[in-house]
Amino acid sequence: MKRMLSGIKPTGQLTLGNYIGALRNFVSYQDDYEMIVFIANLHCITEYQDPADLRKNLTDAVALYLACGLDPNKSTIFLQTDVHAHAELGYIMACNTYLGELNRMTQFKDKSAKGEKNMTAGLYTYPCLMAADILLYDANYVPVGEDQKQHVELTRDIAQRFNNKYGETFVIPEPLIAKVGARIMSLSDPSKKMSKSDETNKGCIYLLDDLKTARKKIMSAVTDSIGVIQLDKANQPGLYNLIEIASALSGRTMEDIVNEYSGQGYGKLKTYVADVVCSEMEKIQNRYNEIIASRQIEKILIDGAEKASKIADKTLQDVKKKIGLEIKY
Ligand code: TYM
Repeated sequence: MKRMLSGIKPTGQLTLGNYIGALRNFVSYQDDYEMIVFIANLHCITEYQDPADLRKNLTDAVALYLACGLDPNKSTIFLQTDVHAHAELGYIMACNTYLGELNRMTQFKDKSAKGEKNMTAGLYTYPCLMAADILLYDANYVPVGEDQKQHVELTRDIAQRFNNKYGETFVIPEPLIAKVGARIMSLSDPSKKMSKSDETNKGCIYLLDDLKTARKKIMSAVTDSIGVIQLDKANQPGLYNLIEIASALSGRTMEDIVNEYSGQGYGKLKTYVADVVCSEMEKIQNRYNEIIASRQIEKILIDGAEKASKIADKTLQDVKKKIGLEIKY
C-alpha cells in the first residue's frame, strides 16, 4: 500500500479552505492508502501564538480531524511535537537547503513584501521542517492545497540532493492536488486565498462558525456586477469561487450547478451554496461536540505518536548514519 502524509497548521481555527483543499481528501484517501496525518504545531509557532489559544486550537484541530471523518483505526494521527525526529531532521534538512531556495518560497516572499515586522528565523526555515515532516515517513504522496505545492517541490529537490550526496535514503514524494477546491478564495476578496489570518473575518468561514454566521458570510460574499451565472474565473472570480465550493461539497460538477441556476439571480445561487456548506458544517459540528465530550483525543494522540515514532526514528537513524554523525560505542 502506498503511503500518504499531510498536516495542517492549527494557527487559529481550521477553515472551510482547509477542509475542502485538504482534510476531506485525507478522509477519502484513508481507505486506499496508508495515511499519516499530523497536527503541525511546530509550524504554528513560527509566529507568536497566545499559549492558551494555541492549546485550545490544537485540541479543536484533532477533534475536527476526527469529526470530518479521519478514523484512527485507518489513519495514524499525531501531534508533531510528540515525535521528536521532526525537529531533529528539520535541522539536518536546513543544513541541506540553500538560502536561494528559501528566498524563492512565495509564502515567505509575500510576507516580507508586506513589510511584516518581527519575522522569525523559524518562518524562514519553515520549508526545511516541512521537508523533514514528509521525508521521515517515506511518503509517496502528499495531499495538499495549491498553496503548499511549492513546499512539496522543494522537499523533492532537497531529498534528491541528499540521495545524490549520501546514497539512496529518501523516497521522493509527489504533491497530490485535487482538481476541484485546491484554492478556495476569500469571500470578501476573491483575489486572495481564504485564510485563517483573514483580518476582516468576513472572507473566511471557520468550521466551527455558528451556522448563521457562516450563512451570512456566504450571502454577503463579494461577486460582480455582470449578473450572469456562468463559469468565468477571470472576470467573475467571486462567483466562480462560490460555485467551486458548492461543487466540492456536493460532488456535483460546476457545470451542472451553473445549468441549474443560469438565468437566475446571484441570491438564489448563494442560498444554494449556503445550504450545502451549512449542511456539511452541521454534520461536522455535531460529531465535533460528541468527540470533545467523549475525551478520546489524548489516547488517540498517544497511540498515533507511538506508531509514527517507530517509522520516523528509523529514518532519522539511517540519515545520521549516512551523514557520519554517529560514533559506534
Ligand atoms: P496550512 O495549515 O496552511 O493548510 C493546511 C492544508 O489546507 C490547505 N488549504 C487550502 N486549500 C484550499 N483552499 C484554501 N483556501 C486553503 N487554505 C489552506 C493547504 O494547502 C494545506 O494542504 N505547511 C503546511 C502544513 C504542513 C504540511 C507538512 C503539509 C506542515 N508540514 C507536511 C503537508 C506535509 C501549512 O501551513 O498548511
